[in-house]
Amino acid sequence: MLNPAKQHISTLTVAQAAELLRAGRVCAFPTETVYGLGGDATNPDAVLSIYQTKGRPRFNPLILHCADLAMAETLAEFSPLALRLATLWPGSLTIVLPAKLNNSLADVATAGLNTVGLRVPDHPLALELLKRVGRPLAAPSANPSGKLSPTTAEQVWNGFRGKVPVLDGGPCRAGLESTIIRVDGERLIQLRAGALAREEIQRALGVTVEIVAKGSAIAAPGMLASHYAPDAQIRLNSSPRVGEAYLAFGHAPTFEGPMRNLSADGDLREAARNLFSMLHELDAAGAGVIAVAPIPQTGLGEAINDRLQRAAAPRS
Ligand code: TXA
Ligand code: MG
Repeated sequence: MLNPAKQHISTLTVAQAAELLRAGRVCAFPTETVYGLGGDATNPDAVLSIYQTKGRPRFNPLILHCADLAMAETLAEFSPLALRLATLWPGSLTIVLPAKLNNSLADVATAGLNTVGLRVPDHPLALELLKRVGRPLAAPSANPSGKLSPTTAEQVWNGFRGKVPVLDGGPCRAGLESTIIRVDGERLIQLRAGALAREEIQRALGVTVEIVAKGSAIAAPGMLASHYAPDAQIRLNSSPRVGEAYLAFGHAPTFEGPMRNLSADGDLREAARNLFSMLHELDAAGAGVIAVAPIPQTGLGEAINDRLQRAAAPRS
């Protein structure tokens, strides 16, 4: 079924969510990229509950969400270049920096690394929540480990089978995870393509952003080859065959089976916003294979193709 009836989900107010988080419990909250599964990053029990709820390997550190730059500066050493990058906050940008000694973070939140990944999300509910909690929130995407990231409260609810309370902020505006940039001396290295296009960062700051070398020791530990996977198999750069589902982009031929178009106008921003939701929908339609049309590798196409390649990779 392509349009399952909206299921009843139980949602939180921002005050209730803040109260749960301050008490060391976890809950899901919206950001402009995807929904996060949040917990107090200074409370080891809360952080452990995040790993446990997601079934996430402990070697994979969490992004620490901050209310503002001042909160972020209590956690990491900001060089002048890092401060320039931080002018793009609030936004879909995670900055990896050397951790400040004696910060308030639980060790499990950083998976024992001496760096931290920080982000100030650009979403009014997320920012209000962070202000009310008054502490950094560790938050991976709110999906069971290895599955597609959720861009609606319903997807969070269904993904965890109703076991995780959700602050509902409607569909996420960007729909793809944040771009991760590591500041390495005077170099900026993109560890994960994401909702803020590399070109856009380069243009805004007038600096070059390198792409991390394959197999590099500094690669984000969570960047496993198979990730973001729907249940169906994915076949890239192709047209659909009978019995399959089709994820189109731009002008598309008519197709009898389950079909979605990421953007009939060929708009990459619209395609990024639709990517995970449409994969969720086509997956729910029950086809064994989703054929995906070619997507240009420019701008946000870099992140879209990255997620599609991971979704298509052999599963371990
Ligand atoms: O948009 C997003 O980034 C979402 C929302 C909720 O903010 N979060 C998200 O988190 O995508 P997650 O856990 O699914 O992905 C976090 C990535 C992982 O690949 C992890 O390895 C990397 O960030 N990461 C976190 N801290 C790091 C660090 N210190 N060094 C390198 N990579 C780091
Ligand atoms: Mg994730």
